[in-house]
Amino acid sequence: MGPRRLPRVLLPAVAFLGLLFLSGLRLQNLSAVSPLQPPHLSPTRGSRLPLPRHGTPPPHRAPRCPGQGFQISSLLAAFRACVTPEGEILLGEYLAGWKELIKLIDTLGAAFGLLARETQTKMEILEGHRSGPHAPHYRTLQAMVAFELRRGRVGLRVLPPDQPPSGSRTLLRLHRALKWLELFLGKLGRSGAEDDPSQLCAEAYQAALARYHSWWVQQAAGLAFLALPSRRELYGLVCAEGEREVQAVLLEAVGTIAGVYNVTQQLYAARGLLELP
Ligand SMILES: *[C@@H]1O[C@H](CO)[C@@H](O)[C@H](O)[C@H]1NC(C)=O
Ligand SMILES: *[C@@H]1O[C@H](CO)[C@@H](O)[C@H](O)[C@H]1NC(C)=O
Repeated sequence: MGPRRLPRVLLPAVAFLGLLFLSGLRLQNLSAVSPLQPPHLSPTRGSRLPLPRHGTPPPHRAPRCPGQGFQISSLLAAFRACVTPEGEILLGEYLAGWKELIKLIDTLGAAFGLLARETQTKMEILEGHRSGPHAPHYRTLQAMVAFELRRGRVGLRVLPPDQPPSGSRTLLRLHRALKWLELFLGKLGRSGAEDDPSQLCAEAYQAALARYHSWWVQQAAGLAFLALPSRRELYGLVCAEGEREVQAVLLEAVGTIAGVYNVTQQLYAARGLLELP
């Protein structure tokens, strides 16, 4: 019995180590391309509150959570302020929303550390563009995509080696991961006490993200999901009184994220960029 079970345990473990190794290489290469700071959260956090000029309503029903990094109210505020009345996506607010999502990913367990680091690297590339020589073209998603297409910076087939990573390609990675989180938080918000977050998270991953990942990454992701906190602990992150309130806040966040996701999706689809390598 013992020796026969060994491969079942060994295979995912090897997959996980392989992923660690590969992603270490990947990160090194990315750092070589653009001189990035080590992956700390940058101290320049930008404004958290929705700007009144966009006419966004103040957040309601989203409680503050004392003594906790992740604040769902900040998540809501950023993604609400992200889409202008003209339907443009403000990159500063988009990244502010992602900073909050990274804090959420960090609380999901050590197995998600890699994902958090990958995401952090993507955000740093975009922040670099936003403060770089072409900063005016990086205020909105629409302006960024138009600018990079005009300048041939997107690299429709392969990444031009002599240029900084394209913002449009980098954001597409975040965009795909955003769908996974939207689906996961949606499933969590509609779940009953008997539902298992590991299962919900794996379903969301299969639906949104798995097809973009290699077999190795999929194995590692599957392992990470098994180590997810319980539903009770996850609901605790929202800090609302009672289960119904938690669900209402979660689903409100999901609706806001879905709005941002949909605008991005339409833009990338209209420009034929959804399948960028
Ligand atoms: C990292 O870059 C080197 C060359 O700069 C390349 O040979 C190697 O394959 C890259 N590694 C990965 C994992 O992309
Ligand atoms: C986003 O798009 C999906 C699919 O097209 C749709 O079902 C959903 O209602 C949209 N959500 C928002 C908030 O626009």
